[in-house]
Amino acid sequence: MYDIGRHSFIVTRVAADDVRAYYNACLHRSTKLRASGTDGSTQEFKCPFHGWSWNLDGSLNEIVCDWDFQHVDRDKFSLPEARVELLGGFVFINMDKDAPTLADYLGPEFMAHMKAWRLEDRYIQSHVMKTLPANWKLSMEAFMEAYHVINTHPQVAVSNADANSQYDTYGEHVNRFISTLGVLSPHLKGQYSEQDVLDQFTIGDSSVLGDSERKLGEGETARQRMADMMREMFEASTNTDLSGVSDSELLDCFSYTLFPNTFLFAGISLPMVYRFLPHPEDHRKTLFELLFLRPVPVDGNRPDPAEPTRLAEDQSFTEAQEIDPGFGEIMDQDTENLLLQQQGCEATAKPGITLGSYQEIRVRHFERAVSRYVDGG
Ligand code: FES
Ligand SMILES: [Fe+2]
Repeated sequence: MYDIGRHSFIVTRVAADDVRAYYNACLHRSTKLRASGTDGSTQEFKCPFHGWSWNLDGSLNEIVCDWDFQHVDRDKFSLPEARVELLGGFVFINMDKDAPTLADYLGPEFMAHMKAWRLEDRYIQSHVMKTLPANWKLSMEAFMEAYHVINTHPQVAVSNADANSQYDTYGEHVNRFISTLGVLSPHLKGQYSEQDVLDQFTIGDSSVLGDSERKLGEGETARQRMADMMREMFEASTNTDLSGVSDSELLDCFSYTLFPNTFLFAGISLPMVYRFLPHPEDHRKTLFELLFLRPVPVDGNRPDPAEPTRLAEDQSFTEAQEIDPGFGEIMDQDTENLLLQQQGCEATAKPGITLGSYQEIRVRHFERAVSRYVDGG
């Protein structure tokens, strides 16, 4: 089931390349055919109330006591569908029959990037869900800039060139930053050596590095050593071939936002997806999902996707076993800010926000898209 607000869809594979999204409501008296938050496999969708059922392809299978429903035209009683498009292994659905195609919506540049990243060749290694204490826009925007790193996550600034991050926008619905890792923050210039940078490299998934030797030789850079170590260890631990992947793609944080609710971190060392859904009952909260994707092993055996771990609202991200504790701490720091920002937005005397020209360009780009959809502005 895919639920967003009051809306609910049964997303199901009908054939190898045929994925459908049925509105999750019976055509008899509207009961949900499947409970929200459930999943599984089946050959039919049978309503729990009076037992009407539909085939996988959405056609009506059975009306119990059909003599009593002579007025029902079976051909008009297929399950209504939302539009579905597949991209990079993801299923995108759209309730608007007149919307542009996904490729038009995302634009040619991003479509070319997606083709190169080959996210369809990755699998879900871990999946964590948690409610964040701020509305959907604030929650999304908290992850669109590296401007907050030096103040909110000082522990990672030693190995993250935060203020040197590159920001891009593509069309109306996609934006991106690239934040280089294994490089000292410009804020800390002169205060740390290359060895310090290497020693304090904790962002994302340092667990993969194990107890490897981390002593830099004369003239060696932390970044190059990190890239070399990561390449070797990822290849060995995941049985993958990364020879065609650049050091930057391997190491750096590539963060794309797809309006309205998705982040794709396409690089190898931070291979994540964030999904943000407005809380169905409380607009001051957001349902947040964090997925780690890993390349499918070279033998082609795709591991089963991880079952989601649901953290309670007051639990720390560090309590999710599948998340590197250093990364969990970063997420907790962001969560604490979000609570204060939500409350501050309600307490402030100043209308609106004041954004930096460059480092917060993704936030502005996102807000513009929101305005276009909400008030046509
Ligand atoms: S509501 Fe579904 S069969 Fe009656
Ligand atoms: Fe953050």
